[in-house]
Amino acid sequence: MRRPLVAGNWKLHKTIGESVALARAILHRLPRETRADVLVAPVFTAIHAVHGALGESTRVGLAGQSCYFHDEGAYTGEVSPALLKDAGCEAVIVGHSERRQLFGETDETVRRKAGACLSHGLTPIVCVGETLEQREAGTTEAVVLGQLDAALEGLDASSVRRLVIAYEPVWAIGTGRTAQPADAQAVHAAIRARVSARVSPDVAAGLRVLYGGSVKADNAAALMACADVDGALVGGASLDAASFVAIVEAAG
Ligand code: PGA
Repeated sequence: MRRPLVAGNWKLHKTIGESVALARAILHRLPRETRADVLVAPVFTAIHAVHGALGESTRVGLAGQSCYFHDEGAYTGEVSPALLKDAGCEAVIVGHSERRQLFGETDETVRRKAGACLSHGLTPIVCVGETLEQREAGTTEAVVLGQLDAALEGLDASSVRRLVIAYEPVWAIGTGRTAQPADAQAVHAAIRARVSARVSPDVAAGLRVLYGGSVKADNAAALMACADVDGALVGGASLDAASFVAIVEAAG
């Protein structure tokens, strides 16, 4: 019922030329029919060129890696949802743990950014996840559901329906340490249960919840086979067309 989504987060990697080449290579390798929707998130400077390279193809969509919550103004260094849409994006990653840890993003800015994306018809991919200390202290669910609650604050059911949530344990990002499928499933189920209680069972049943954190071609199938795991947000393994497409294929 839920169509899987596999999104590649290219982070701060690749020139315009390299980004275009990677996008073309992904398109070339991608089977004509995939069960999963596919997105890639290049650096801002490459988005427009990658959009051009993807041409008429709708098989690979584009996402921004972040955005600001105002449309325009005296906000040096920021980019707005409207401009990301103008450049060809249909989605934006919001509240990635690197943004939260390195660039001071808070639950409040994440909420405002998600709202700004929704108001421009962009899909926010809202990232939540606990640190290793929080997991070891047994507070994983409290942390993740707290971040989720903050992001959902003030959104009506039709807005929540358009969100994507990405559960990314901070200790699994870029470390080669992946959550065990059962551990990921437990958090994903808790996320869905919270949306069911807060919004409605129907919205929760349709909500896509991605797993992220050292997803590779060889662990993707087991993670995405979990009942409440609806795809993957992929960092390192999305920088190579073969490994990224293998993860897309692992979605079924
Ligand atoms: P990783 O990154 O796959 O390199 O762990 C995932 C992410 O940060 O979204």
